[in-house]
Amino acid sequence: MHDITYLWRDAFDNDAVNRLHAEAFSHALLLDDWWAQVNRHSLGWVCARRHEALVGFVNVAWDGGVHAFILDAMVAKAHRRTGVGAPMIERCAVEARQARCEWLHVDFEEHLAPFYLVSCGFSAAPAGLIRL
Ligand SMILES: CC(C)(COP(=O)(O)OP(=O)(O)OC[C@H]1O[C@@H](n2cnc3c(N)ncnc32)[C@H](O)[C@@H]1OP(=O)(O)O)[C@@H](O)C(=O)NCCC(=O)NCCS
Repeated sequence: MHDITYLWRDAFDNDAVNRLHAEAFSHALLLDDWWAQVNRHSLGWVCARRHEALVGFVNVAWDGGVHAFILDAMVAKAHRRTGVGAPMIERCAVEARQARCEWLHVDFEEHLAPFYLVSCGFSAAPAGLIRL
C-alpha cells in the first residue's frame, strides 16, 4: 500500500497497540504498558502508519548481541493482505543489520509460512518452544 509509512522506534500510544494486539490475537482489550516494555527491553519496533493511524506494529526483541527476535507482528484486519506486513518486517531486518545484529529470528504458526518464508525471506529452521 502506497500511503503507509514505516517508522523505527516511533512514539506510540499504548492504547493503539493494545487495540491492535487484541484484534490480532483475539483476546480482550488489555492495558499493557508497551511503551515502557519496548523501551526497556527491545532493540526497537516498527510502527506502520496510515496518516496518523497505527495500522501495524512489530516488536524486535534483542539479546544485547547479535540476535534479534521478531515478536508480536500485527497488522489491523482492515489492512491485511494489502502489503503492510512484509515491508514492516523488512524494516526490522534493515534496522537490526544496522545495529550489527547477525541473526533475525522468528517463530510462527504453520499457516504463516508463506508470509515469513516467501514474502519476508526467512529460511526455515527448526525451533523449540516451552509454554511456561
Ligand atoms: C501476519 C500478518 C502480520 C501479515 O500481515 P499482512 O499485512 O497481511 O501481510 P502482507 O500483506 O505483507 O502479506 C504478503 C504476502 O504474505 C502471504 N501472507 C500474508 N498473510 C498470510 C496468511 N494469513 N496466510 C497465508 N499467507 C499469507 C501472502 O502471500 C501475501 O501476499 P498476497 O496477499 O498477495 O497473497 C497479519 O496477518 C497479522 O497481523 N496476523 C495476526 C497476528 C499474527 O498472527 N501475527 C504473527 C505472529 S508470528
